[in-house]
Amino acid sequence: MSRRNQSDDQPEATGLKKGLTSYGDNGFSLFLRKAFIKGAGYSDSALTRPVVGIANTGSAYNPCHGNMPQLLEAVKRGIMLAGGLPLDFPTISIHESFSYPTSMYLRNLMSMDTEEMIRAQPMDAIVLIGGCDKTVPAQLMGAASAGIPAIELVTGSMLTGSHRSERVGACTDCRRYWGKYRAQEIDDQEIADVNNQLVASVGTCSVMGTASTMACLSEALGMSLPGGASPPAVTADRMRIAELTGAQAVQMAHDKLTIDKILTPDAFENAMRVLLAIGGSTNGIVHLAAIAGRVGLDIDLQALDRMGKDTPVLLDLKPSGQHYMEDFHKAGGMATLLRELKPLLKLDALTVTGRTLGEEIERAGPGFAQTVVKSAADPIYPQGGIAVLQGNLAPGGAIIKQSSADAGLMEHEGRAVVFEDAADLALRIDSDELDVTADDILVLKNIGPKGAPGMPEAGYIPIPRKLAIQGVKDIVRISDGRMSGTAFGTIVLHVTPESAIGGPLAYVQNGDRIRLSVSRREISLLVSEQELALRRERTPVVVPSAERGYKKLFLDTVTQADKGVDFDFLRAPQTKGTVPR
Ligand code: FES
Repeated sequence: MSRRNQSDDQPEATGLKKGLTSYGDNGFSLFLRKAFIKGAGYSDSALTRPVVGIANTGSAYNPCHGNMPQLLEAVKRGIMLAGGLPLDFPTISIHESFSYPTSMYLRNLMSMDTEEMIRAQPMDAIVLIGGCDKTVPAQLMGAASAGIPAIELVTGSMLTGSHRSERVGACTDCRRYWGKYRAQEIDDQEIADVNNQLVASVGTCSVMGTASTMACLSEALGMSLPGGASPPAVTADRMRIAELTGAQAVQMAHDKLTIDKILTPDAFENAMRVLLAIGGSTNGIVHLAAIAGRVGLDIDLQALDRMGKDTPVLLDLKPSGQHYMEDFHKAGGMATLLRELKPLLKLDALTVTGRTLGEEIERAGPGFAQTVVKSAADPIYPQGGIAVLQGNLAPGGAIIKQSSADAGLMEHEGRAVVFEDAADLALRIDSDELDVTADDILVLKNIGPKGAPGMPEAGYIPIPRKLAIQGVKDIVRISDGRMSGTAFGTIVLHVTPESAIGGPLAYVQNGDRIRLSVSRREISLLVSEQELALRRERTPVVVPSAERGYKKLFLDTVTQADKGVDFDFLRAPQTKGTVPR
């Protein structure tokens, strides 16, 4: 779908002639545009080249993008070496720890910013530089809707640090050490010491959290160069990938390799396989659903579950395994993983190189001995990392990351201990008065897309302090929220429909029995339908709303987890099919 020039009758205008500002005289519009850019010192020769926009997400609030100046220089070098004209522009940048109330609340805003700036400004191709969790999905969503040739470059992972000779990295170890501190196993001095070591450089989290997951999924989708997912942020390999990305963007502009040719059902199926095989973040499902929705595709969650049964977890990275992203890179990165997964992949899917995924796997060569990517015969975990649950508690589905759950809790029935919302949780979770045992099931309501709002990563409910001190390391937890990809535990997430719009979760009460059976893919509230109807009548749910601004837009239009938590009006107007086909 090559995009038609919006202000010009010529459908195939290129370079600076694209998208002329509406003055009623296109000749004058171009004349004026050139006059202004010449004010920045550009020559006529430079201005006749293919224009490659670069979405610059550098921000002092986003240390995960702290290598942006070097990346920009390398991308621009690549574009110019290939004969193009690079023009970078800023967009919203979102960091997990600097976004109130939660980064997910802003992802769709960033996608709109990215889409509209691609549409508004003249460019023949776009290099998207993202990294921190929500930025890559936001960019892919926006670019998918804008429709021009697009290529993703991730900032790369941070280096690992060392605490008292133990290797540490954000953020699985952040949670592990905080858990130790809550359980009074380490003191104030040690928690302060470890705080200095968890993030050893700029770059994205060093484990298989959401950022690393989205980096791998972007390569699996064919949206990043082969080898683009794994180089750490501060390495020469990362800069070389940046230069090559710039050069490839120029080629894509020449070839008119638009994003719809890459984001096909086969590409999404490959991404789903990879998500399962890397033990990827549960957020990856939500983001894939949102990106797919932009090109008119629905992700079939039941099919994802079936795919999980024959897709082993191969990547030995925290939180499912032991290693960090820099180890994955040294082990050959995605080429090593894709080679092992090859029998399960759709090899004809096109990538940003203009070659298919199968051709790229061949070009990567035979591989070498390493210990980070396991063989299909000797996996980390025999089934995919994520299981899709259903039952009367989650008629629209829920998920659990089984690869990082306690095997002893995956078949469990227990008594519900209910928290009405995040504030209630904060107030009571550490109270000595809390009536809770290790056999109970913690239930947290109102942290779904509309509930919080923004579906925060509060699904990783902390172990109540009184249990943590007794040495309890895991307990079944259920919510309609999300969880950081760096977290671990027997945690049921994305319960759909959410409690804030009257899903069954809203009517769970303290003392109710709940049954979780991962083997049967079941999540059931053992309360009769008559009793639930009574509760609905007695305390009807009031759906959250807002008077004005972005919050109003968000609450009025946000979809549920199975549709990617995208705004309904941003999805493609027509659904073309489901993935996998
Ligand atoms: Fe940015 Fe983890 S906080 S990737």
